[in-house]
Amino acid sequence: MPRGVRGGLHLGVGVASLVSEGASATLRPMRESDLLQVVSIERDWAPKPWSVDTFRNELGIPFSRALVAHDAGAPGVVGGYLVRWLVAGEVHLLSLAVERHRRRHGIGSFLLDVLLAEARAESADLVTLEVEASNVSALRLYESRGFARARTRRNYYGGGRDAVVMDRRLGCRDVS
Ligand SMILES: CC(C)(COP(=O)(O)OP(=O)(O)OC[C@H]1O[C@@H](n2cnc3c(N)ncnc32)[C@H](O)[C@@H]1OP(=O)(O)O)[C@@H](O)C(=O)NCCC(=O)NCCS
Repeated sequence: MPRGVRGGLHLGVGVASLVSEGASATLRPMRESDLLQVVSIERDWAPKPWSVDTFRNELGIPFSRALVAHDAGAPGVVGGYLVRWLVAGEVHLLSLAVERHRRRHGIGSFLLDVLLAEARAESADLVTLEVEASNVSALRLYESRGFARARTRRNYYGGGRDAVVMDRRLGCRDVS
């Protein structure tokens, strides 16, 4: 069965389902009760991980949206998450990660597809993000979803680690 978003995507409520070769997942808004699992995933990959308080703060910001993917039928088990802002017609992706043992099952693309669908529904013009230049898996994921490399920010992460700024413009002719 091909990968993709299946079932209902109810924008604003944030329920969508994914069925892929190796996973079946559902997406919903992040809750306070998810934060320990989210931070555990975050600590497993991020050089400077966000804390529980940082994620909690996002839950209270009106222009921030935080989503989690969980196994269908196990809404308490977080498999991945994203946080994005919508400001002045632009969506900025602040954070996206999938739990290590659940990667390569389409969950990252699922989260990104929902981000793009919501951005279109909210009439955003542009989606932007920064990704570490050495993060091949994330670069490929974003390129697979139509993001283009806009520029490089030298030493953005410190220690000589550069960021690639990527964007995807959303227009009225964008139908993918
Ligand atoms: C990047 C990340 C979110 C991808 O999540 P995922 O659920 O594994 O991604 P998907 O299964 O949807 O993969 C989609 C595409 O991304 C690319 N990709 C993902 N992982 C890859 C890897 N390890 N190597 C090469 N390409 C990869 C592939 O093009 C893949 O498509 P394919 O499986 O058909 O080849 C995940 O690896 C992760 O959490 N990494 C740590 C956190 C991180 O780097 N976040 C991004 C910060 S900007």
